[in-house]
Amino acid sequence: MNEIRNTRSPQSIAIIGCGNMGLTYARSFRQYGLCTAEQLLLVEKSAEQRAQPELHQLGQLTQGPGERLRHCQIVVLAVKPQDFAALAPELSPYLQPDQVLLSIMAGITMSRISDSLQQPLIVRAMPNLPARIGMGMTAFAALPEVDRGHLHMAETLLNTTGRAVFLEDESLLDAVTAVSGSGPAYFFYFVQEMVQAAVEMGLDEATARVLVKQTMLGSYHLLNQSEEGPAELIRSVSSRGGTTEAAFLAFSEGRLGEVLRNGLQRAESRARELSGAL
Ligand SMILES: NC(=O)c1ccc[n+]([C@@H]2O[C@H](COP(=O)([O-])OP(=O)(O)OC[C@H]3O[C@@H](n4cnc5c(N)ncnc54)[C@H](OP(=O)(O)O)[C@@H]3O)[C@@H](O)[C@H]2O)c1
Repeated sequence: MNEIRNTRSPQSIAIIGCGNMGLTYARSFRQYGLCTAEQLLLVEKSAEQRAQPELHQLGQLTQGPGERLRHCQIVVLAVKPQDFAALAPELSPYLQPDQVLLSIMAGITMSRISDSLQQPLIVRAMPNLPARIGMGMTAFAALPEVDRGHLHMAETLLNTTGRAVFLEDESLLDAVTAVSGSGPAYFFYFVQEMVQAAVEMGLDEATARVLVKQTMLGSYHLLNQSEEGPAELIRSVSSRGGTTEAAFLAFSEGRLGEVLRNGLQRAESRARELSGAL
């Protein structure tokens, strides 16, 4: 187990909403030794979710916010965005002005959180699904009242699920949602289509999956370790009149690059639209 406790680690953390993401954070905070089970307050409304033995081992599990919440330095908001309106009045009586509220709720702006809860210290983060295995990508922004120490504390927490980058401009979180938030789904789609093509060429599905997944893994590491960017690496695989060039000809006839960029732009507009509607 890695030990990353340091002076920037909070002593006591609350997680409100322990579904997919809340549970991921609870596991990660404990795994990295950021808090003990006594220092982790888990607030979960769903009886079904509360019946999970793992939640009882990870922290102090309760059905609703209560007095213990006052003693937490950082409060992670991990309920669905549509549940925030109902949560706010339940939470407000127990919040203290020096607590940092770290929201991962998609689309809910920091000013909305600050106004609803009458709290000044808000950090808003957009994680993605690989956070579940500690390989997530998170971008986060903060209100100006959040000082450097608070930001480091939030970053330390977010880093337990992968990498985290700070954005000065909160509105860029819509682009982040389109790129890294939805990104894993685009990747899974590529894998699915490549496996399908391989099967249509006569490979059995298990072999097709190994070929595609290992190709993705190897290509990722090569890109990551290489001085060259994607364009140069594409050239390294291609030769004039060869197979890769034949594939790229079909991609360009189908305007694949343009289709992809359009898809991401549409995801970004949808993120903005949803944020306005919440
Ligand atoms: N999943 C992702 O990949 C992902 C990525 C980026 C951001 N996010 C954000 O992460 C947040 C959580 O997503 P999720 O997938 O973890 O949702 P989830 O699995 O539905 O978990 C939310 C949990 O919060 C509980 N809850 C609702 N209201 C509550 C309250 N007042 N007090 C305590 N608990 C309450 C829910 O119980 P009930 O089921 O009974 O309502 C549910 O168990 C969302 O805001 C989402 O936008 C998720």
